[in-house]
Amino acid sequence: MNEAPPRQLLVSPIKNGTVIDHITAGEALNVLKILGITGTTSERLSIATNVVSRDMRRKDIVKIENRELMTEEVDRIALIAPRATINIIREYRVVEKKGVEIPSVLIGVVRCPNPGCISNTDEPIESRFEVVEKGLRCYYCDNLITRDIARHII
Ligand SMILES: Nc1ncnc2c1ncn2[C@@H]1O[C@H](COP(=O)(O)OP(=O)(O)OP(=O)(O)O)[C@@H](O)[C@H]1O
Ligand SMILES: [Mg+2]
Ligand SMILES: [Zn+2]
Repeated sequence: MNEAPPRQLLVSPIKNGTVIDHITAGEALNVLKILGITGTTSERLSIATNVVSRDMRRKDIVKIENRELMTEEVDRIALIAPRATINIIREYRVVEKKGVEIPSVLIGVVRCPNPGCISNTDEPIESRFEVVEKGLRCYYCDNLITRDIARHII
């Protein structure tokens, strides 16, 4: 039998910032998209994907230096990674740990797939979706997004 390797951090520790742990495997880049973090923003990031985890088979992890994410922004993550945990790091230590909760309303987060929807016209109207049992329902045209939510993120 193989011996378990010593427990260690996959990426170097950060002094201050946020660790998003237990992200559904494969969703790390979508998590960044939801947070509005792209290759051209200035955050210092570490991303680990398909990491073997004790409590899930595989998971992704995102570490963001020098930024403490707020509850409103992280809750959107629950749409694609409901088991994610948000760890706030100060002076190398986890000082706060919280789960993510699916918000009841999403404004300006996903684009309505209906091209005729008022939220897709030149009107200055932000998309608005209600989170219902079957998925996301457009407040303006009742269109329902039931799958591939990540694909609809603005
Ligand atoms: N200073 C740090 N820099 C970078 N990552 C860190 C730092 N401290 C903790 N982490 C990471 O943050 C996450 C949470 O750390 P914690 O020590 O609470 O682990 P844990 O006990 O396994 O937590 P959980 O019960 O949520 O799985 C882990 O992925 C850990 O590797
Ligand atoms: Mg753990
Ligand atoms: Zn619509």
